[in-house]
Amino acid sequence: MFDELSQCTTRVLADTYSMTDISVEWDVSGSVEHGDVSTSIALRLATKIGKSPRDIAQVICTAIGMLPFVERSELAGPGFVNVWFTVKELLRQAQISVSYSEPMTVRTKEAPVIVEYSQPNIAKPLGAHHLLSTIIGQAIANMHRHAGYHVLTWNYTGDWGTQFGKLAVSYRRWGDDRPVKEYSIDELLNLYVRFHKETEKDISLEGEGRAAFRKLEEGDAELRAFWRDVVSITKSSLSALYDRLHVHFDTDISESFYEGKMQPILEEGVKKGVFTEGEEGALIVEFPEDTHLPPYMVRKSDGATLYATRDLAQMRYRIDIYHPESILICTDRAQELHFRQLIATCQKLQWVLPHFCNVLVGRMRFADATMSTRKGTIIRLERILDEAVGRAMSIIKDRGDLIQTDDPKALAEMMGVGSVVYGIVSQNRNADITFDWEKFLHFDGNSAPYLQYTYARARSVVRKGEWNGSPTDALETENFTGHERDLVNTLIQFPRVLEEARMEYMPHILAQYLFLLCQRFNAFYNSDAILRSSPIERERRLFLTSSTASLLKTGGELLCLRFPESM
Ligand code: ARG
Repeated sequence: MFDELSQCTTRVLADTYSMTDISVEWDVSGSVEHGDVSTSIALRLATKIGKSPRDIAQVICTAIGMLPFVERSELAGPGFVNVWFTVKELLRQAQISVSYSEPMTVRTKEAPVIVEYSQPNIAKPLGAHHLLSTIIGQAIANMHRHAGYHVLTWNYTGDWGTQFGKLAVSYRRWGDDRPVKEYSIDELLNLYVRFHKETEKDISLEGEGRAAFRKLEEGDAELRAFWRDVVSITKSSLSALYDRLHVHFDTDISESFYEGKMQPILEEGVKKGVFTEGEEGALIVEFPEDTHLPPYMVRKSDGATLYATRDLAQMRYRIDIYHPESILICTDRAQELHFRQLIATCQKLQWVLPHFCNVLVGRMRFADATMSTRKGTIIRLERILDEAVGRAMSIIKDRGDLIQTDDPKALAEMMGVGSVVYGIVSQNRNADITFDWEKFLHFDGNSAPYLQYTYARARSVVRKGEWNGSPTDALETENFTGHERDLVNTLIQFPRVLEEARMEYMPHILAQYLFLLCQRFNAFYNSDAILRSSPIERERRLFLTSSTASLLKTGGELLCLRFPESM
């Protein structure tokens, strides 16, 4: 329908004014008084054509008015064309839209899209700020998989580096007699914090930490065993958290894996003249002045490799083994320069790269001052989730009979975790992301509880109406109310919005849509009787209600949210 509308407009512009290669946008209008869609193309082309915008709009309006699915078209204001579709067509479009709530079959034979996110540094518990890349990355992966892409999700944890040397020193000096295997993740964190405290008094500890890491790199058996234990403690504590967040990784091949894969790359770079000797024997990459990129170090003067070196090896490995169509790496903005240097280095090495995007996310800001002032210490993600669930539980209790559930505990988990997840994923990742309990748990705002409540409400109507899911022709005979029309106009946007959010790697676009869908549904629900209306209206309204529920659930789940059947 949208394609036909654009084609018809293009054709009439070509036939009447010999205007070719014009792309015509039809915008969804904010309210039905201005049509289901409208265009301002006549205003844009007036000078070029040399006619008044209203004349041009009239020509378009007449042509569009003849399309079989158009009920009415209107010339408005200085030269807008407003178009209303037939009820039949709107309902047909809504059915198409609902079919998009089913995932496409995954095209497993195609080259994969690698989506990397979360990537915490090991030996520390997951902090609140890790949520950003974790949730946004998962949502991007979900949207791609839903669209049939062969997706490979990847957690590239920082499981290698001097922090292990420091931890080993701290354990040797201040640990108790228990084997490290028996340490909890919190105890490991305490060791890490202790190390940093002690370094303030005794700077030589730093050197000791580095030396321990060098020994680990050289293969010292005891240190290797220590490292393995620390990695496994961290990974199991991580996996419990990921489960709660509905986050899943296909692979967690991490930094340590590339240990033996860097030497050939260093040799290749030297041979190609891309890596040159900097100060005291370090190897660096220099970039042309117009790139404004500072030099990139790939080997330290003491021969040690770096984060950058491992990332080069990681890129090479992914390309050679998976032949991906694209690589998306979701990180904090602070890594932007690193990835620009990395890609520029790959290009200098003349590697053939797949489509690459460093999907950047802003910083986490806390609306609650007490959360942001605890400087230096990590705000543990687990604590945040527990607090969210606690808060959700008190809301459930406070609301009493207004909330219906057989399992308040499960509902509190869904609401609480959901509120944090959705609170993040509904914000534009290009800006800083504000953590705000009030907003996140607000029942009437753009929040998880609002979406969940709307879903449960819609489902309850569908159950009571015993709606079997497939509309009949009877749907098409009567006209819509304004609220129905607003709702159906929102329903039919789903495929386009989803595709836009996926292509731009912007999950908040989908979230905004879901919020609007809920608002439109609730306005309709509050004003138009559903179950107690005439048989034809009843059937049509049940169809709209069940369509809302389907799209809400699919869209929300893509954003890592879960929905209760009653609430
Ligand atoms: N572990 C790193 C950090 O927390 C992020 C890793 C990003 N991914 C990458 N391929 N370098 O800073």
